[in-house]
Amino acid sequence: SAVGVSRPHESARAQVAGSATYVDDIPEVKGTLHAAPILSNVAHGRLLGVNAAAALALPGVRGVVLAGDIPGDPMLATFVHDEPVFARDTVQHIGQVVGLVVAETVMQARRAARQVQLKIDPLPPVMTPREAHAKQSYVLPPVTVRRGEPEAALAQSPHRLSGQLQVGGQEHFYLEGQVAYALPLEQGQWWVYSSTQHPGEIQHWVAHALGIENNAVTVECRRMGGGFGGKETQAGHLAVWATLAARKFRCPVKLRLDRDDDFMVTGKRHPFAYDYTVGFDGSGLVTALKLTMLADCGFSADLSGPVADRAIFHADNAYFLSDVEIASYRCKTNTQSHTAFRGFGGPQGVIVIEAILGDIARTLGLDPFDVRLRNLYGIEERNVTHYQMKVEDNILQPLLSTLAQSSHYRQRREAIAAWNAGSPVIKRGIALTPVKFGISFTATLFNQAGALVHVYLDGSVQVNHGGTEMGQGLNTKVAQIVADELGVPFERVRSTAADTSKVPNASATAASSGTDLNGRAAQYAARHVRDNLAAFVAGLDGCGAGAVRFAGGRVTSPKATRSFDEVVQAAYANRIQLWSDGFYRTPKIHYDKLTLTGRPFYYFAYGAACSEVAIDTLTGESRVLKVDILHDVGTSINPALDIGQIEGGFIQGMGWLTTEQLVWNDKGYLATHAPSTYKIPATGDVPEHFKVDLWPEPNREDNVGGSKAVGEPPFMLAVSVREAIRDAVAAAQGGSQPVRMDAPATAENVLKALKA
Ligand code: MTE
Ligand code: MOS
Repeated sequence: SAVGVSRPHESARAQVAGSATYVDDIPEVKGTLHAAPILSNVAHGRLLGVNAAAALALPGVRGVVLAGDIPGDPMLATFVHDEPVFARDTVQHIGQVVGLVVAETVMQARRAARQVQLKIDPLPPVMTPREAHAKQSYVLPPVTVRRGEPEAALAQSPHRLSGQLQVGGQEHFYLEGQVAYALPLEQGQWWVYSSTQHPGEIQHWVAHALGIENNAVTVECRRMGGGFGGKETQAGHLAVWATLAARKFRCPVKLRLDRDDDFMVTGKRHPFAYDYTVGFDGSGLVTALKLTMLADCGFSADLSGPVADRAIFHADNAYFLSDVEIASYRCKTNTQSHTAFRGFGGPQGVIVIEAILGDIARTLGLDPFDVRLRNLYGIEERNVTHYQMKVEDNILQPLLSTLAQSSHYRQRREAIAAWNAGSPVIKRGIALTPVKFGISFTATLFNQAGALVHVYLDGSVQVNHGGTEMGQGLNTKVAQIVADELGVPFERVRSTAADTSKVPNASATAASSGTDLNGRAAQYAARHVRDNLAAFVAGLDGCGAGAVRFAGGRVTSPKATRSFDEVVQAAYANRIQLWSDGFYRTPKIHYDKLTLTGRPFYYFAYGAACSEVAIDTLTGESRVLKVDILHDVGTSINPALDIGQIEGGFIQGMGWLTTEQLVWNDKGYLATHAPSTYKIPATGDVPEHFKVDLWPEPNREDNVGGSKAVGEPPFMLAVSVREAIRDAVAAAQGGSQPVRMDAPATAENVLKALKA
């Protein structure tokens, strides 16, 4: 069978050899021009004028594109319609795009863009979510989710703890930066190559800005060099800009941001600030929680509504909260418009409840792991979330106890305590934290997908679906599913580029649901073809279609065995359809957008990680020593790819929580806009002991191949690293008090926590 086996990513060899094509590798059509963005250098102000004279005088420069050059809607076709295509009357962050310079080469365009002078009358900027909240500066109205009587429960709680927490954002740092290449076709039509997670939305946005119909625009994406959520909406801006330039100059135009500009222009993971008061009893059981979340959305709404909603949905992580109120504010600041990033707000929910439970344990002198176990969702009771969804597929108890055993958590905690007693400067810490992550787009309508399966006359197969490949292995998994359904070897199936002219109106490849949705749609498409072939063979052999088997490249009826290719050729000669579409929509899900209650998720993916760290109490530096992970992917379609996603997600989460720090100065300038100052994990940061095991049980819901989504949930396992660092800080302090430490745990923040 083609599923359930580890195979290399379908592009792995080409990627390693450098022959896999990305947008910037596509041979340029004769006459292609290049664009570079003109960026605001003021965080907030009135835009009074643009003087491009110096830029226009430079060699190779063809001209500029500004707001006045937009034939359609000058506002992007975002959900909230609050983002101008190019800044017009006001600028709202440093790096906001005012227009483009278009030139014959990319370096000419970039140099000239820096010569454009903007006349801006500055206004006071709002730089932090707390400042925005104080001024009631929001991109969307606040949302509150409430259950029970948290105030009364707090008053009755034997213990109470209040605190604040600040959590930083994260730059996506996809290896391939944002890029688009727009080509005018005949009769007012457009072809746009884009590095995007959402070709369908790019098509829509481009048409909207040009004032033309969607059917005049085709968007293609063969692969991305990473997206991580950063190319869910924000690739669309580049596509719109490049197409506007191509329209104005009647030439193909390519727009590729250099790394610094990419940092300055595009949004990041939302930074968050929190205030909380929690009530608990002597066993560490949470009895009440009041939590305020301030999401730093940047200057526009983008995806901030659903991101902030998901933070609410994951503020329970794996724990039952009886009496709870969560108030969520979507704060407007004069920074880049923050956007989707792996976990989509989930990590910003998980981090705060884990911080709270860790501090409850320290306050009571208990092991944080015991407090975590004490608060887990139950099987028969304590099994309804604060948004009224029943947790039906709970495997938290057995999963956590299995990992605690296999990682020797208890013995190591004792050994670490003994080690710390003899080590005054270096302190170690350990933490075992769970994750429970809801799978589905919270906007129910996005949970649909389509696919096309074509069987050619030689028996080879092409599959096309609405999803996009960003390195996660979606195309490999979908090809495996199709091969399995047709009973042909994996090598006979090829995935082709995402293309809006093949599968229309596709959702973004996001919310980890790429395989769930597109894999099922492709499976159904392949099944239609197989059914056609089975009926044909049944007619030949005088048996029922159900008796015809497809496996190992052979088609077997009770009467005869034939090769798949032979059956295909004979079916063609008899005018049988050898290609089909497939469509899937996720069952069971529904929820009320206003109260945020219902069943937003089809199922949950579970996991846990045990991390051990060491900190240097003199310098604040930290290092992750050992990591053991047990993660639930249901029945894996491709264990090698799934383990790769778990490892990658974990390390990316570790970067967010340790070394990746975004610093905006008091003028609103992002000072950390290149790898020289913004530190993602390097290979040397991968823990020496890094073990990943898969939970051996299929998805309890009917999902493709019994699998579970894997793209995002492991990201949150890295919260164990932060909790282990706090454990080490607590060991250094020797006290039974909360450890106040903001994220990321940079050397400075660890030192601050040690001094507190
Ligand atoms: N893995 C790689 N290599 N590159 C990526 O850009 N994006 C992540 C995750 N894993 C990403 C990745 C994010 S944010 C999501 S939502 C999922 O992949 C999307 O793909 P899937 O739904 O097919 O899992
Ligand atoms: Mo992923 S943040 O849902 O693109």
